[in-house]
Amino acid sequence: MKRILLSVPHMGGSEETHVRQAFATNWLSTVGPNITAFEREFENRIGLPAVALSSGTAAIHLGLRLLGVGPGDEVFCPTLTFAASCNPVRYLGAEPVFLDSDCATWNLDPNILEEALRERASRNQLPRAIIVVHLYGQCADMEPILALCGRYEIPVMEDAAEALGATYHDRPAGTFGRIGVFSFNGNKIITTTGGGMLVSENQVWVDKARFWSQQARDPGLAYEHSEIGYNYRMSNVLAGIGRGQLEVLDLRVQQRRAIAYRYRDAFADLPGVSLMPQAAYGLHTNWLSCFLIEEAKLGRSRDQLIRALDEAGVESRPVWKPMHLQPLYAGCERRGGDVAEDLFRRGICLPSSSSLSAADQLRVVNAVRAAVGMKELDDLKNTVTV
Ligand SMILES: Cc1ncc(COP(=O)(O)O)c(C=O)c1O
Repeated sequence: MKRILLSVPHMGGSEETHVRQAFATNWLSTVGPNITAFEREFENRIGLPAVALSSGTAAIHLGLRLLGVGPGDEVFCPTLTFAASCNPVRYLGAEPVFLDSDCATWNLDPNILEEALRERASRNQLPRAIIVVHLYGQCADMEPILALCGRYEIPVMEDAAEALGATYHDRPAGTFGRIGVFSFNGNKIITTTGGGMLVSENQVWVDKARFWSQQARDPGLAYEHSEIGYNYRMSNVLAGIGRGQLEVLDLRVQQRRAIAYRYRDAFADLPGVSLMPQAAYGLHTNWLSCFLIEEAKLGRSRDQLIRALDEAGVESRPVWKPMHLQPLYAGCERRGGDVAEDLFRRGICLPSSSSLSAADQLRVVNAVRAAVGMKELDDLKNTVTV
């Protein structure tokens, strides 16, 4: 029986045309028309200048450097995220401070941010920057966060790696901070196999990031360098994939949302299983369909469920392990309560590929239902039509 994976690439159709064009014209490096076009098309979609990079992690690294993060600085970051959100803080010799989540959104809790900023301000030791992550396709509550960061004059970088296509009060994720960052990793809502994008309203910063991403070679014939650079530029071949993928982004959002709501409806009679909250302020893409498990009500723990699914040929994963629980970040300060830890202990991510067929989703649903001793379903309802 075919194994059902968590989140796999899903091509739209025109990607190959752009890739073939790259081969036909021999633009097989990190310059070429697909890169220029992909950046322009992304800019049109998001409304801000953009630079195409080799990964979301590279974009975070360059973004933090643009914000002036360096040795001795502190950067605030939500603890509930993937390690790539904060590893670049360390690349730059700075230290992350981890803040807890809000259980209504699973994202950075503005109250904890406020308390942390007040405490740091009283010691005259404000962080250099704040990373806000939009987890699993849902925006953090940006209004209070931006108000606080404005009051203390601290720049925000949005890690929208998981949230391309999401909105907050009708505005796209990634356009609220001084810098926004996206990922086109193979598991994301659209992919270039691997890649990322940095956006900012500040064109000079975007140009600087492009310069750094190409080894920071000064103008002129000689290989002269005045600044440290990186090999972080996206290739023209992969940008061709990105162009095709961008055309189907809205469809992919609908498909992922439909999957999440089908699971929700199929589990409606299961006690102790609830879909990740869907905040009223925006569009949650449900990049991954995440559920919380209450063992006392369901009669199965999250880990028992993951094991049962695995035996049924279904890949599922725990929600991200908070950064303050990582050996790598053992010495770092953390602020807040136990929300992120609780979400990590009880949260499960189910197969969410936009290409997931109704039959395969029914297999996942019935594997969950069988694992908790509930009658299997014959078919699934469609709350969100695609
Ligand atoms: C929240 C978050 N930030 C950053 C990244 C890093 O992106 P990339 O894999 O493109 O480097 C990812 C995913 O991989 C992510 O989920």
